[in-house]
Amino acid sequence: MELYEDGIGLHKVKRDTFLFQPADFNHLERGEIMPEARFIYSFSYDYHHRDLCRLECRQMFQQEEEGKVLFSDVEIDPSISPFLLARFEIITEAKSYDKLLPLIRKQLLRTEGFKVDYLSLEGDPARFEERKQKMKEVGFCIFAAPDFKNPSMVYSICTHEGMWYFGKLKRHDGAWRKHNNKPYSFSNSICMHIGKSLVGIASEGDKSKTLLDACCGAGTILLEGCIGGFNIEGSEINPKTYYGTKKNLLHYQYEPNLYLSDVAQVEKEYDAIIIDLPYNLYSRSTDEITAHIIEAAARMSPRVIIVSIVDISATIEAAGLNVQDYCTVEKRGYSKFARSIWVCER
Ligand SMILES: C[S@@+](CC[C@H](N)C(=O)[O-])C[C@H]1O[C@@H](n2cnc3c(N)ncnc32)[C@H](O)[C@@H]1O
Repeated sequence: MELYEDGIGLHKVKRDTFLFQPADFNHLERGEIMPEARFIYSFSYDYHHRDLCRLECRQMFQQEEEGKVLFSDVEIDPSISPFLLARFEIITEAKSYDKLLPLIRKQLLRTEGFKVDYLSLEGDPARFEERKQKMKEVGFCIFAAPDFKNPSMVYSICTHEGMWYFGKLKRHDGAWRKHNNKPYSFSNSICMHIGKSLVGIASEGDKSKTLLDACCGAGTILLEGCIGGFNIEGSEINPKTYYGTKKNLLHYQYEPNLYLSDVAQVEKEYDAIIIDLPYNLYSRSTDEITAHIIEAAARMSPRVIIVSIVDISATIEAAGLNVQDYCTVEKRGYSKFARSIWVCER
């Protein structure tokens, strides 16, 4: 961060928001301040996933989204979250669309094969024709030939609370939805959205972290870890379920380590462990089994994310873990069934 005085006041600026001549602020017009946050994230979720999305935000960005928009300096791949629609990296901003265009031209961008997209944030009323016209006008501010089919770079504009932004856009890749058609399913499985979100929560968005899906069942969480490019392994005590998970992983050509084992026998260390606890419906469970699994995870990792359908706070405490964050996820519709997600640390 640097301080920049523009005659109106002091503003914090990030050096790396400039593409050319990082120390040259001359292209800024009076009143046009450079952004403090590097990225704008946009979100989409159903009402019953709102609290889960907020928990994920707190864990990955240390703040919550507001109105499905979040400004942050934290760089997250938008495809790792089921709720992130896009990541917009701010290059420049202005108080009106008309003032934004000359600022884009001043960037002197010469990116061959570029494309311009329009990111509609919550509350932006622009309809298709208006968005198309603006994309065209922004395209004329870039001094290179576009490639709409296989762009080398996607630039974008968006507007939020009266400000207009120009930047680079990375949209969420929906390829993970193919996991809906996995060959082996299991009545105890969590939904794909929760599975994907658990990977983001456990890793805090950092793909270098080592993760274990301790009670992997049909592998819902593992599949999402694999497609997200995470360093994830799985363990499952039941042979039939284990071979079902193997079948699912092979179907998508993922090859993580998978242990046919009680998690307590895995004897490795991980940055975070995810436990979707057995809950006596199709897989046997007792208070002793719950305590056994949580205690094993607490020995192997300083960070344990637990999914349960009953209050397990006493068991968490007895295992030497502290609940750092928490949410409940209701099932869509009238069902009273709810899962709790406990983010625990040693
Ligand atoms: C709720 S299911 C997990 C569902 C899974 N997340 C999915 O989406 O398919 C719990 C699983 O934990 C397994 N399990 C129970 N005790 C275990 C232990 N000690 N070690 C490893 N797996 C265990 C059960 O066999 C069951 O498949």
